[in-house]
Amino acid sequence: METGMKWKAPMIIALLAVVIVVVAGCAALRESRPLILNREYEKMIAGRLDADYIGTDNCLRACHFHDKKRKDFDLSTMGAQLSRESGMPIVNCESCHGPGSLAVEGITPELVNRDARAGRQTACDYRTLVDMKKLPAQAKSLICLKCHTANATFNLHNWNASTHNLSDVSCSDCHNIHAGHNLKVKPREMTDLCYKCHQDIKAAFALPNHHPVPEKKIFCTDCHDSHGNMSVKNLRKDTVKETCTQCHAEKEGPFLYEHADVTEDCRACHQPHGSVNSHLLSQREPYLCLQCHPTHRLSSTTTAEAKQAVYTRCSDCHSQLHGTDLPSPSGKGTFVR
Ligand code: HEC
Ligand code: HEC
Ligand code: HEC
Ligand code: HEC
Ligand code: HEC
Ligand code: HEC
Ligand code: HEC
Ligand code: HEC
Ligand code: HEC
Repeated sequence: METGMKWKAPMIIALLAVVIVVVAGCAALRESRPLILNREYEKMIAGRLDADYIGTDNCLRACHFHDKKRKDFDLSTMGAQLSRESGMPIVNCESCHGPGSLAVEGITPELVNRDARAGRQTACDYRTLVDMKKLPAQAKSLICLKCHTANATFNLHNWNASTHNLSDVSCSDCHNIHAGHNLKVKPREMTDLCYKCHQDIKAAFALPNHHPVPEKKIFCTDCHDSHGNMSVKNLRKDTVKETCTQCHAEKEGPFLYEHADVTEDCRACHQPHGSVNSHLLSQREPYLCLQCHPTHRLSSTTTAEAKQAVYTRCSDCHSQLHGTDLPSPSGKGTFVR
């Protein structure tokens, strides 16, 4: 008993000490601040530690060259973040172009007036800004991603692994920041945007049978997610079938009589964009079916008729080949009515 007391006292003191240290430590953690100031970090991203942020007003005060760009930008969703009342993170010219103090050094209203009288446009020293034209695609996208993190812009959560990112396509290849105040890709302009790089797809949609994309009834992004996706070919849904049955719901099933698992991937028989064959079929009938099935004769007909039958469209009789809940007249699941 006595020996027990002897070591208990120092033990309690030690424990108390630990508790105090932990509590004090927590308080210190709560007061944590960034290792470096945000603006210093920003300058590092822009690669310009020697320049300073001066704000859009100072950037453009003496210069009316960029008034249109500014007006458009102020009207955009990103530009609207500038207003103090919005309470949102501020986005301005320097958020993307980097700190501007060096670029406007020495530009005064007097100089601008003198240049104007001489019929000249005063140019800032734009070489001190981030060189957008020479920046590698991924680095260019990083300018956007510092704000548009996967958390902030949810549909970018697969961007890093996306084919577009890995193929050196950058955000501004599709989102033209200075084309006007609308930063979103408008559906009606989208086809032309995608065709810029996907000429083969343009050719497919020019075939006699095609999904009505050229007619602007449906759009590339109904089936594809341009920001990347976990499924094949950036399809919107997890599987090809799910992507297709968004609109062709009657093919979804499950059915009592299914075409094995062939209809799980509509590509077994259909082209997604366009085809020379009717119904977007990848092959003409009967050759489509003959890839997997032998021909057959009909017992109820004469030999001549049977031959005839085998080489017409199989789907004339097997009209329920996408699946059906009704058995064929014989009671089997052969997709005939
Ligand atoms: C969200 C990012 C972003 C913001 C904000 C931004 N820019 Fe740009 N800017 C770009 C990109 C990207 C390019 C390069 C365009 C390209 O490669 O097609 C560019 C190009 C330019 C050019 C080069 C000329 C041209 O049209 O190619 C000028 C000038 C310019 N911006 C001025 C401004 C001004 C002024 C502001 C503020 C009102 C501003 N930018 C805000 C991203 C931005
Ligand atoms: C300094 C932070 C910041 C940077 C850098 C930035 N953005 Fe934004 N952006 C915003 C904010 C904030 C909004 C408005 C809120 C929102 O829609 O997420 C916005 C909105 C947008 C929108 C419109 C979304 C809509 O719903 O209308 C697009 C498109 C966009 N940004 C693309 C870009 C691209 C491309 C770049 C790079 C060239 C870029 N942004 C760089 C902060 C930024
Ligand atoms: C291949 C073209 C393409 C590329 C590259 C691209 N986008 Fe988009 N983005 C689109 C299209 C198309 C939409 C319209 C929404 C949709 O239907 O997917 C869009 C929508 C957006 C929106 C609006 C978000 C919303 O929820 O509606 C933001 C913000 C955006 N993109 C930012 C970016 C950023 C940041 C990058 C680069 C990391 C980028 N985009 C790369 C085509 C592209
Ligand atoms: C600046 C050029 C460019 C633009 C614009 C562009 N793409 Fe792409 N896209 C590429 C490149 C490069 C690849 C990869 C090589 C390839 O498959 O052709 C690609 C690949 C793809 C793929 C195949 C993905 C995979 O995993 O194999 C799809 C789908 C796609 N793009 C759809 C679109 C859509 C939809 C648009 C319009 C919203 C678009 N692209 C706009 C350049 C572009
Ligand atoms: C009805 C849905 C649908 C529409 C609309 C659609 N696609 Fe596709 N796309 C697909 C499917 C499904 C595949 C996969 C095809 C395959 O794997 O054989 C695909 C494949 C692709 C590929 C990859 C081609 C390859 O050989 O790897 C590109 C690029 C592409 N589409 C671009 C586009 C563009 C650009 C548009 C709009 C002009 C568009 N798609 C419209 C469904 C669609
Ligand atoms: C965004 C809606 C949409 C999606 C997604 C879609 N389709 Fe279509 N599909 C249509 C429309 C609209 C038509 C044209 C119907 C018409 O002209 O009567 C069509 C036509 C067709 C046709 C030809 C019909 C005929 O009678 O000639 C086939 C086959 C087809 N789609 C298969 C597919 C496949 C396979 C997929 C998936 C890769 C798919 N669709 C995804 C909307 C869609
Ligand atoms: C085994 C081959 C095969 C598969 C797999 C297949 N189809 Fe078809 N599909 C056809 C044939 C053949 C036709 C034309 C004859 C007919 O209408 O039955 C057709 C016609 C269509 C049509 C237009 C006529 C109608 O019935 O509305 C649509 C839409 C269609 N298919 C969608 C799909 C979708 C979506 C999938 C995937 C879930 C799919 N197909 C899978 C062979 C197939
Ligand atoms: C990619 C291969 C493939 C294609 C193409 C295909 N089928 Fe099939 N089909 C199958 C498989 C696998 C089964 C199920 C296996 C079985 O029962 O023999 C099946 C089953 C059938 C059955 C039921 C057979 C039975 O004994 O119950 C019929 C009828 C049929 N297919 C008709 C067609 C027709 C008509 C076409 C053309 C429009 C076609 N198939 C295209 C693979 C295919
Ligand atoms: C004139 C109508 C007709 C045509 C055309 C036709 N079939 Fe059939 N098919 C039938 C009938 C009827 C059955 C027997 C149905 C039953 O017993 O349920 C059948 C049975 C089948 C079976 C199941 C065979 C078995 O032994 O159980 C397959 C597979 C099949 N057809 C494939 C095809 C293919 C492939 C084509 C095109 C090359 C085709 N059919 C053309 C009427 C037709």
